[in-house]
Amino acid sequence: MKPWPYPLWLAHRGAGKLAPENTLAAFRLGAQFGYRAFECDVKLSRDGEAFLLHDDTLDRTTSGRGSPAEQDWEALALLDAGSWHSPAFAAEPLPAFAQIAQFCLANGCALNVEIKPCPGTEALTGATVAREAARLWAGADVPPLLSSFKPEALVAARDTEPGLPRALLLDTLWDGWPEVAEALGVVAVITNWRLMDRALIERLHARGWRALVYTVNDVPVAEQLIADGIDGLITDRVDRITP
Ligand code: G3P
Ligand code: MG
Repeated sequence: MKPWPYPLWLAHRGAGKLAPENTLAAFRLGAQFGYRAFECDVKLSRDGEAFLLHDDTLDRTTSGRGSPAEQDWEALALLDAGSWHSPAFAAEPLPAFAQIAQFCLANGCALNVEIKPCPGTEALTGATVAREAARLWAGADVPPLLSSFKPEALVAARDTEPGLPRALLLDTLWDGWPEVAEALGVVAVITNWRLMDRALIERLHARGWRALVYTVNDVPVAEQLIADGIDGLITDRVDRITP
């Protein structure tokens, strides 16, 4: 396997349980707890701005309503993405991908960018995020790791910026996933932790792929996976687990 420059522990959605997920406040909190690697979800506004949001709609985590793919960034940037979490985070904005890049580069933090397209925008989102990531991290020691559950998004990322590392996300071990991972030229496979065990880690390593898991919040589970040879764990529990 090739050298692996990413820390073992990554904070999920920034550190998105103690602070509003996928906001700069969450990244700041994770960094305060000692985290030097993060996972976040990135999608596109109607006018093609890459920004952080998990859901396909704005409803759960912002003051907005409906699909972010039907609104321009100028309007999205004015939304409150913090009040849903707690009053202390009122008026926390949705961050542009470029702002998160700036934070990570300034603080020596690695980033796993989950490409999370709104339905129907898989290829456009994969290509745009890859192009932006290559521009923002140009000359950096550690490039962002681009991951997705959507092979179509990773194909577009590969065709746009073949030099950026990619990972396939798996919530189930669907038929043909190893062939798809091979065709995508991934450096890692990131699974739901319930799917991962020593046998799968060894199977991935034998193909030259790193093995990562999401979202591990239980210390004994983490200890077992570390003993089994896991390469990375994505967690919400930045307060309980010191990287
Ligand atoms: O990237 C791994 C993990 O974030 C996938 O699940 O739904 O939290 O994006 P989700
Ligand atoms: Mg995610």
